[in-house]
Amino acid sequence: MAKVLLLNGSPHKHGCVATALDEMIRVFDAEGVETELIQVGSAAIRGCAACGYCGKHGKCVFDDLVNETAPKFEAADGLVLGSPVYYASPNGTLLSFMDRLFYSTSFSKHMKVGAAVVSCRRGGNTASFDALNKYFTISGMPVASSTYWNQIHGFTAEDARRDLEGLQTMRNLARNMTFLMKAIQDAGERYGMPQVERGAFTSFTDGKRDAE
Ligand SMILES: Cc1cc2nc3c(=O)[nH]c(=O)nc-3n(C[C@H](O)[C@H](O)[C@H](O)COP(=O)(O)O)c2cc1C
Repeated sequence: MAKVLLLNGSPHKHGCVATALDEMIRVFDAEGVETELIQVGSAAIRGCAACGYCGKHGKCVFDDLVNETAPKFEAADGLVLGSPVYYASPNGTLLSFMDRLFYSTSFSKHMKVGAAVVSCRRGGNTASFDALNKYFTISGMPVASSTYWNQIHGFTAEDARRDLEGLQTMRNLARNMTFLMKAIQDAGERYGMPQVERGAFTSFTDGKRDAE
């Protein structure tokens, strides 16, 4: 059975982002996909300190929800990021969480399916959507898409429930994501997963890191 982890970056447990994620969860349930929703936005999550602790110890130096989530992410076949739009970007709590989750974990995220969902009252949705998708596309994670950019509009959950096209987008997204996860699983068994080449790490540091 495929498993999806959903992160709600909003501080509102029952707000617009939650409404969008709930719509997806209903489809996942019907499709037999296991889900777990993590309420990231209510936690006090600080940003990455770039201390390098994770490189040596395999986990973040700040032992909070990020380290708790890491093994759940490792076990998942798909990850959904839900964020409210704050000043035309994903909200700060989710970004801090994601920087630390992706930077501090060394397990392969390759071929886990990603999907980003954003909610705004008015504007800034596609810029936020782009920012979230970048966590996936730097990590070898195929991105699930839908019948529109994955957004819902509203200031309150009640508004979001009236965004019928937004809700439809969420249902189609969950269906496409389910299909992708199953297809990747089948193809992996049939053809094997694609090879990942590593080693080259070109950043022209010229010893600057040593001098830090
Ligand atoms: C600090 C802050 C900044 C916001 N910036 C924007 C914005 O740039 N564009 C917009 O349309 N809505 C903005 N909003 C409104 C929220 O994005 C919108 O109400 C969202 O749907 C709330 O989702 P939630 O109920 O899941 O928290 C902002 C809200 C807050 C609190």
